[in-house]
Amino acid sequence: MPDIQTQNDLYLIVDEFYKKLLSDERISYIFTDVVKIKIEEHLPILVTFWSQGILGTGGYTKNLTQIHLDINEKEYLSPELFTIWLSHFNNSVDENFKGQKAEQIKTQALSIATVMQIKISQKKS
Ligand code: HEM
Repeated sequence: MPDIQTQNDLYLIVDEFYKKLLSDERISYIFTDVVKIKIEEHLPILVTFWSQGILGTGGYTKNLTQIHLDINEKEYLSPELFTIWLSHFNNSVDENFKGQKAEQIKTQALSIATVMQIKISQKKS
């Protein structure tokens, strides 16, 4: 199995990942009802984001944690939702890629998810 090398590889991951998220009713409502994402606009943003982190390209400038704190204001992003999100993400990577970058992207996702959850729990108290 190859490692992640190009933006096309990242596109494949986020495409598979969103198929999993949208077909899982435990989490899909966040993307269809709470925030109505346009998938054809959303996926290129995700590729730019991960390309910055994994391939060292630039181009993503928004405050990702704040975007998720705003979603959390509309609908609580519970630890269970983060667990579901991470498991679909990790599976989308593992089903297609193996290697250093594949490990790196999963580690980054986990650390970003951890920061988001800490910020969310600080909001609650
Ligand atoms: C419970 C877990 C999560 C849920 C339900 C969730 C949901 C969402 C939703 C609904 C959007 C669209 C926001 C909008 O367009 O206004 C979004 C955007 C995004 N999410 Fe998440 N997210 C979660 C966790 C994460 C994590 C852990 C990461 C990164 C590791 C991440 C990365 C992104 C990125 C890169 C965007 C695009 C932001 C932009 O438009 O600039 N998400 N997320």
